Amino acid sequence: MRAFFALPIPLEIRNRLWRDLEPLRRAGLGVAWVGAEQLHITLVFLGEVDEAGVRSARSILGDPALRRASFTVGLHGLGRFPPRGSPRVIFAELSEGADDCRDFHRRLVPLAEGIAPRESRPYTPHVTLGRVKRAGDCLDLDPYKGMEARFEVERCVLYESILRREGALYREVGAIDFIR
Ligand code: 2AM
Repeated sequence: MRAFFALPIPLEIRNRLWRDLEPLRRAGLGVAWVGAEQLHITLVFLGEVDEAGVRSARSILGDPALRRASFTVGLHGLGRFPPRGSPRVIFAELSEGADDCRDFHRRLVPLAEGIAPRESRPYTPHVTLGRVKRAGDCLDLDPYKGMEARFEVERCVLYESILRREGALYREVGAIDFIR
């Protein structure tokens, strides 16, 4: 199955982000918007893993190296990747908690070595909101500069990603609770 480790976002925050983005969705851009159910902060993407891989991934979550306190994440404004030219990804930027995400990612990566494909890009915590399907669309993210959200990250989840035509479905297959 296709799997990844991520930090979940509380339901009310996901719903609010979804509502705040409504005007942008209505702009009729060629963007595949991530549904409110699927919004998350990716930590490590595992890709296709077999039964044994899932078992290892689940057991990683019990490793003492991952024990840490819960933390606050703040989101502020929207970003796009790449920063210039035709955008490919629209995301919410972290204004708070990025160091905590990076700290946890740094602990998780060595444990996931052997299951996860090696990432060449540096880790940048973010919340992917949409993936641009149609090149050349003009994106004005300025009106969303003030978009804000703040929430507690209380666990890390191992998700199975089931790809469907109407959008991916994420199913929790393991988790670790942070200390509160
Ligand atoms: P992103 O949205 O933060 O970029 C679940 O599929 C998550 O894993 C996605 O939200 C995406 O994170 C990340 N992901 C998907 N395919 C990937 C790939 N081929 N390599 C790395 N990360 C990937």
